[in-house]
Amino acid sequence: MSTLSLLERYGKGAVAGSRVSALVCRACGHEMPVVATSSCDRCFGPLEVEYDYTEVSRQISRASIAAGPPTIWRYQALLPLDLEDDARVSLGEGLTPLIHARNLGAELGLRNLHLKNDTLNPTGSFKDRVVSVAVSWARRHGIATVACASTGNLANSVAAYAAHAGCRAVILVPADLEPAKILATSIYRPTLIAVDGTYDDVNRLCVELADRVDWGFCNINLRAFYGEGSKTLTFETAEQLGWRLPDEIVVPVASGCQFVKHRKAAGELIDLELVDRGSRLPRFTGAQAAGCSPVATAFASGAETITPVRPDTIARSIAIGNPSDGADTVRIARETGGVVEAVSEEEIIEGIELLAASEGIFAETAGGVTVAVLRKLARSGRWSGDETVVAYITGHGLKTADAVSTRLPVPEPVAPSLRAFSERFLN
Ligand SMILES: Cc1ncc(COP(=O)(O)O)c(C=O)c1O
Ligand SMILES: [Zn+2]
Repeated sequence: MSTLSLLERYGKGAVAGSRVSALVCRACGHEMPVVATSSCDRCFGPLEVEYDYTEVSRQISRASIAAGPPTIWRYQALLPLDLEDDARVSLGEGLTPLIHARNLGAELGLRNLHLKNDTLNPTGSFKDRVVSVAVSWARRHGIATVACASTGNLANSVAAYAAHAGCRAVILVPADLEPAKILATSIYRPTLIAVDGTYDDVNRLCVELADRVDWGFCNINLRAFYGEGSKTLTFETAEQLGWRLPDEIVVPVASGCQFVKHRKAAGELIDLELVDRGSRLPRFTGAQAAGCSPVATAFASGAETITPVRPDTIARSIAIGNPSDGADTVRIARETGGVVEAVSEEEIIEGIELLAASEGIFAETAGGVTVAVLRKLARSGRWSGDETVVAYITGHGLKTADAVSTRLPVPEPVAPSLRAFSERFLN
């Protein structure tokens, strides 16, 4: 096993798009070279991709986006890579439907409620956006093995994209993950490692491993690039609303990575004048399960830091007890006028059922959390009714079918005759 760090192996000579000027520490502002690395080498803070926005503005316009492919790569000028079509590792991720949810909206008293249906990505979750960027970056920089610590959806996605890219995948998950998520990973034949511990244990192990092996861990030493893929959800939302930003965006929160990136994306759209002049930053609202709600707890108590918890919830995909971007999520929610709210296990299941019955979208438990938080906030009188609210539905329901399967009626068979049918159903 190699003891060379990725920085030593691939750092020198690593080339990024000319728009990318540096990696900058979000905590202390220290600038680092654009290489695969886990955190700031001064304070261990998270790293942000810093763009040369003068160059970006030369490369991007509404017209250039419209002329791009029907995937996340139409926003390439705001992603940390410059790749020709066939050098991208893409399975058609992104440009998912933005649905005007009239029925759910009527139930909640919201006339302009929209749902971004990210269950329709290639492996059934928004993770395909981040993984397409991370695996493309890895392949572009000669990294032969991609890896991750995962609560499930990332595992599915990394396994699929690695298969498509023709590279090796090493995937570490908590051993008690939902069977559907194990199956939807192992079908792509990665090296799948079940760790006897929580996600937070798995992640800690991977952070240590990342210093020992020459693998690209999507959510660790490729995290700065990977996270940028999330921004495309908000770019698409604005484009699909006719280049407007909504008044409020509701996002399920695990590590908080995508929450932070949606705020960054909205700022970029405003600064680059891609959205209509005078557009205001949306309020950013986070959704958690009460059984793992360190971010909602910090928000409610006024704290600026996160106190880690041990997760206990059916919403496994967002069960991160020690979220790396939790403090930034709380800050952004406060700064933009959003909130971070948590809901019970029963409310999560009701959220899944309500979304399916009212809009025809079957979401996994994280979607149940999002819809349940929407309902809770609507009932508390948060909205007057005319606001444009967009909720991100980030994972498909077939991945967590067990959460609802025992609640659904199993139909009693009927004999195949008109008489039997009439007796049972037409009287
Ligand atoms: C379906 C789903 N939604 C939301 C999230 C939250 O993402 P983040 O860790 O960026 O907060 C995850 C994370 O795994 C997820 O799987
Ligand atoms: Zn730092």
